[in-house]
Amino acid sequence: MGPVEIKSNVYWVGAVDWNIRDFHGYSTPKGTTYNAYLVIDEKIALFDTVKLPFKKDLIENISRIIDPRRIDYLVVNHVEMDHSGTVPDIVELAGPEEVICSPMGKKALIDHYNRGDWPYHVVETGQTLKLGKKTVSFLETRMLHWPDSMMSYILEDRLLLSNDAFGQHWATSQRFDDEIDAAELFNHAGKYYANILLLFSPVVQKLMTKIVEMGLDIDMIAPDHGLIWRHDPAGIISAYRKWSRQESRRNALIVYDTMWQATESMAHAISEGLKEEGFDFQILNLKFNHRSDIMAEVLDSSAIVLGSPTINNGMMPAMADLLSYMKGLRPAGKVGAAFGSYGWSGEAVKLISEAMRDMNIGLVSDGVRVKYSPKKEDLDRCVELGRQVARAALNLPSRSQAPATA
Ligand code: FEO
Repeated sequence: MGPVEIKSNVYWVGAVDWNIRDFHGYSTPKGTTYNAYLVIDEKIALFDTVKLPFKKDLIENISRIIDPRRIDYLVVNHVEMDHSGTVPDIVELAGPEEVICSPMGKKALIDHYNRGDWPYHVVETGQTLKLGKKTVSFLETRMLHWPDSMMSYILEDRLLLSNDAFGQHWATSQRFDDEIDAAELFNHAGKYYANILLLFSPVVQKLMTKIVEMGLDIDMIAPDHGLIWRHDPAGIISAYRKWSRQESRRNALIVYDTMWQATESMAHAISEGLKEEGFDFQILNLKFNHRSDIMAEVLDSSAIVLGSPTINNGMMPAMADLLSYMKGLRPAGKVGAAFGSYGWSGEAVKLISEAMRDMNIGLVSDGVRVKYSPKKEDLDRCVELGRQVARAALNLPSRSQAPATA
């Protein structure tokens, strides 16, 4: 893809990665983009680079606008290598006057590339840089997504270069939100939030406050992944407010793995109890649903019911994988329970319950265990578990933490 002018003398010069399918454990069935932005003024500034295998795309895109050796400032908003991978090549090629980054960014760049000799210019929140007609204001956004992360705001264009925040993993030929289906765009943005930023929700809330305090009047948000919010920046800001409050709707997830369909039968019986209480639900078999797609659904659900048969005194590997991943992302304000079949030892339900308790998921009971194949009375217990989960979820506060573990 060639460069795209997103504001007067501000160009997208990034790369589209059509082929990536796994982004550190996050499934990316539609690829992603690595967005970098070139600003032409009296001084020429490049904001972020791309993942190293896409170096050629970046340099070709810049070269279609200016000779890359004319870059004066290289702004590194984030050091994760999907954005900084080509920084050493750009420094080598362009010899910029300054490599601009946050205080933590300088440390991280040196840790990654062992180059203490680059011409660093460390900036903090509120500092500005005059490019000529355009002025850049910097905003540190620690932990969104790494300690080094920051955003750059171009005052005259009311343009927020937001780095990872407000992004989506979606490779497209279009560059702007108004050129593409809005529902699908928000689905991608939600999955991205659930898998990248959910655990930093308190930080996202502070960022929203900071944006207001700094009086940033935002006309466009240009993230480092996916589509640029030209038409509806307010829409994605509003979605981030909602997601960071972890407000969930009346929806339950029943997620399970199964060996001989006993645990699967239990999952369906639990769904009957949820339905009786007027609760929406989704039944997600771990054999067919990726952990990162399940997290996207967790974002919007108030109840989580997890099932696994016992195998080798533990749970099925896919459930252990999900619990490890989910725990790291710290979903809040959920209730739930565990269930599963067993043959003789039957540890899985207890282990899943412990993991859910560790995540502050409000357990409605000790769960339901069934020996071998469920009989009618066992399925009745599962239906009742579904009812209990629904009732507990209806009693959740409208936002924030789940009630104390039962
Ligand atoms: Fe897109 Fe935290 O990197």
